[in-house]
Amino acid sequence: MLQWYAEHARDLPWRRTQDPYAIWISEIMLQQTQVKTVLPYWTRWMRRLPDIASLARSRTETVLKLWAGLGYYSRARNLKRAAELILQNHDGEFPRDPGIMAKLPGIGRYTTGAICSIAFNQPTPILDGNVIRVLTRFFGILEDSGATTTRTRLWKIAGQLVTLASTQGIGLKHTSTTRHCADLNQSLMELGALICSPREPNCGACPLQARCAAHRANMIPQIPALKPKAAMRSRLFVAFAISRDGCFLVQKRSEGGVNAQLWEFPNAECLEDEPDPENSARLTLGLELGASERIGTIRHTITRNRIRLEVYHSKPSHDPSGTSPLTRWCPPSKLAQLPFPSAHRKIVELLANRQLLRT
Ligand code: ADE
Ligand code: SF4
Repeated sequence: MLQWYAEHARDLPWRRTQDPYAIWISEIMLQQTQVKTVLPYWTRWMRRLPDIASLARSRTETVLKLWAGLGYYSRARNLKRAAELILQNHDGEFPRDPGIMAKLPGIGRYTTGAICSIAFNQPTPILDGNVIRVLTRFFGILEDSGATTTRTRLWKIAGQLVTLASTQGIGLKHTSTTRHCADLNQSLMELGALICSPREPNCGACPLQARCAAHRANMIPQIPALKPKAAMRSRLFVAFAISRDGCFLVQKRSEGGVNAQLWEFPNAECLEDEPDPENSARLTLGLELGASERIGTIRHTITRNRIRLEVYHSKPSHDPSGTSPLTRWCPPSKLAQLPFPSAHRKIVELLANRQLLRT
């Protein structure tokens, strides 16, 4: 694996550093998000907030804006809180001790293992979806890969492997370095990402092929064994892009709950079989609007929700009275600067495509 990794690892920017802060940011971004998507976000973040102190002292709005579009915003809020704690309690030095690291907000067992191994070359295991796939296939583990007992077993195997790399990897002629823990863990992730893919793994290019149980037994489609997924739920929302004198009505979500403190266009959920969802949303929101035009549909999926968002462009039927602090009329040029969740950023794109952003 070390040999293979030395030859085939992707050249990713967070692999060119041993700065635990930079690696931490990359690992949090890479949870639930693809490498391709993370690349520009990570680069922008590192330019704007290059170290723990700058993150700890940044404004929440700045952090959310840098995160906007990545989803699961509690990840961004936890990054900031953890940076504040590191500044307060550890003199701004990223802790090396896995026990201490794992107490920081947003840093679980996987992230602890990743940072300790990748930044500090400690023999701490990692286990994520990619690693689970490689290990269950290679060792022919047939139990439900999500079960607690299976997870315990896999963490133990991952720990044995990285420990073995730390003690026995020395003298291997793999080219890069002697950072065997860092490389072994990343080789498992990388093999899962590039070769041992969920559907049709490229076993012909896999360094483990000769000793892989799933390959030998022709059992790849059955491993890792998964419990049937909980059913998806379809949900319908209506959003209004309401313009007055060229400005758009936007509101800030309050603290707590989904997408807390992000901005959005006024919207409401409707019943899936609602005959007139637009009208029902108007009633829910208590909006007095003139005629509106449907300008598009945005579809996105988050956890178990398959969401259809119908977007209407509209004007107020009379001048609305004073707006609350959480509501503002935003000029088109400022829309791009607000942290929107990605579905609402797509509304801005819809408006731009429809030439509705001109003042
Ligand atoms: N996914 C999670 N961690 C990663 C890493 N360090 N490189 C590439 N993909 C990853
Ligand atoms: Fe995965 Fe195939 Fe390699 Fe086994 S041989 S680890 S199934 S890619």
